[in-house]
Amino acid sequence: MADERLIVALDFHTLDDAKKLVDELGDDVNFYKVGMELFYSVGAEIIHWLKSRDKKIFLDLKLHDIPNTVAGGLCSLMNLGADILNVHASGGFTMMKTAAEKLHEAAESRGVKCPKLIAITVLTSLNQLEWCGALKISDQVANFAKLAKDAGLDGVVASPQEAKLIRETCGEKFLIVTPGVRPAGSNVDDQSRIATPAAALQNGATHLVIGRPIRAAQNPREAALKILDEINGL
Ligand code: C5P
Repeated sequence: MADERLIVALDFHTLDDAKKLVDELGDDVNFYKVGMELFYSVGAEIIHWLKSRDKKIFLDLKLHDIPNTVAGGLCSLMNLGADILNVHASGGFTMMKTAAEKLHEAAESRGVKCPKLIAITVLTSLNQLEWCGALKISDQVANFAKLAKDAGLDGVVASPQEAKLIRETCGEKFLIVTPGVRPAGSNVDDQSRIATPAAALQNGATHLVIGRPIRAAQNPREAALKILDEINGL
């Protein structure tokens, strides 16, 4: 059974490129992130294809609108059968609470498994200079995480740098999905607030989202196996 703490990001424009990477990674990777780039290009077909291969899916569309609209959008997306959906925590407590409630109601009435719903805290690409909020980024992340938990969400997307604080604030069961993870020695251009896979998990992350360090490697399977070795050794 593949280690589902690793989620590989399928940031491609075409179905063929996405399928090629999934086939290359084979049974070693079971969890994939489909984001705006791929979903807006190829739509639901990629989700159906991944499901036909028994892969788990984080559909990363980062919904952000008024409560009723976000809840409706999520209930439509739920029909695709992704395992994780997400919204922006900056949409507010009422938006997140409405979204979580409506999603659970819809899953129950349709007799399907409810996907996990998680919230983006602060985009990991922002640094303290770009961030215009009154609070420090880490304090804002902790506030958003607490708000998401109180609204009934299952977890958050956050930088690995803030995983420890979120774990302390939100308790054991809360999902912490961390992008911006770079294996040691990775030559992918680095932004702020990153960490190695091992450090992210040690800080309390439950899942790592990794894209370019695997996708852009000469041998993507080897790159994925190296990451899996690193996290299995923890
Ligand atoms: O950078 P990388 O290719 O590993 O990114 C994988 C995914 O993680 C991207 O789809 C992006 O949404 C997310 N990401 C992020 N913050 C970063 C880097 C990447 O949210 N600093």
